[in-house]
Amino acid sequence: MTDTAPQSAVRDTLAEFEAGAARAFEVAEDAETLRELESTLLGRRSRLGDLQRQLSTFAPEDRRDLGQAIQAARARLVELAGARRADLDARARADALAADRLDLTEAMSLGAGWGGPGRTDSGGGDPALPWRGHLNLVTQTRDALEDTFVSLGFSVAEGPEAETDWYNFEALNMPPAHPARGMWDTLYLRLGAPETVLLRTHTSPVQVRTMESEKPPIYVVAPGRCYRRDTPDARHLPVFHQIEGLVVDRGITFGDLAGTIEAFTTAYFGPDVHSRLRPSYFPFTEPSAEFEVTCPICGGAGCRTCSHSGWIELGGCGMVDPAVFAAVGIDAEEYSGFAFGFGIDRLAQVRVGLADMRTLLDNDLRFLRQF
Ligand code: DAH
Repeated sequence: MTDTAPQSAVRDTLAEFEAGAARAFEVAEDAETLRELESTLLGRRSRLGDLQRQLSTFAPEDRRDLGQAIQAARARLVELAGARRADLDARARADALAADRLDLTEAMSLGAGWGGPGRTDSGGGDPALPWRGHLNLVTQTRDALEDTFVSLGFSVAEGPEAETDWYNFEALNMPPAHPARGMWDTLYLRLGAPETVLLRTHTSPVQVRTMESEKPPIYVVAPGRCYRRDTPDARHLPVFHQIEGLVVDRGITFGDLAGTIEAFTTAYFGPDVHSRLRPSYFPFTEPSAEFEVTCPICGGAGCRTCSHSGWIELGGCGMVDPAVFAAVGIDAEEYSGFAFGFGIDRLAQVRVGLADMRTLLDNDLRFLRQF
């Protein structure tokens, strides 16, 4: 006959033991404590070991059941200990990472001694603070131009720097082999058929894109980067910026163009600077003009910057050619418009009296920090 009382007593002891051991593992605070607990609770000399040894006093059929119960309890506890170890390892890794973290504010102040980023010597501003970066002069100029035109009622448009021949030339009334294409030394991209994809040589393609996607009335400016196959010199950069303007509405006249240019000039340069238009040629405008402003350096008296003429040429403009309207499907009988475009880098150069445009790209902090 089987002695059932001792068997249930063993099961009770086992359950009680398992619950206590599980709690102990769950609250183990570090890997060392966990290791000790494993040895005392699961090792050969543990309570579990004792129970195991007691099995021999039971009848064989009870022995098997109890043995399985003990093994199952052990397996659950081993698993719990493993999970706890994984938790503790993860926490230790996180602590190590936090301890290794670089304190960059400390690096900033360390730089103070050797002219590093934390230098506090002659950086301008509060000498107790590290130097601060700011936008490049060209970016500041672009932002100021956008603000000026937005205040005149224009909105701001954008277009891609990699363009197709259609937008950069053809839709602007320059079919293939048109001689005026020679006005722009073009960088072509090795993409598609030869000479079909290029880096835009001016912002005028944004005119075409805008007229394709919007119906008149249109009042937009489009600032952006342009590229030409030019050797850099004091007045030219192969990568530069332009701002394009386009107005299309009913009854727009050349007078509106001249008035807008003058309004922009005084809004941007102040009341002492004026504009004038001189006849010129562009394939996408008819009539076309160059616009010039009073030399802001000498106030019109004549100086080296304006070649003693008192005027500085800023860009081109004119009335949108009906052929351009035809390319984008705008009825030239119903609408008329004007367009203009000028160099942002050139404007910045004129405004601050910069002898050489290349300094804009040199990344020399002694130059850049003046603005
Ligand atoms: N795209 C011309 C250039 O890069 C400048 C220009 C002239 C733009 C006349 C215009 C314009 O919109 O009407 O030289």
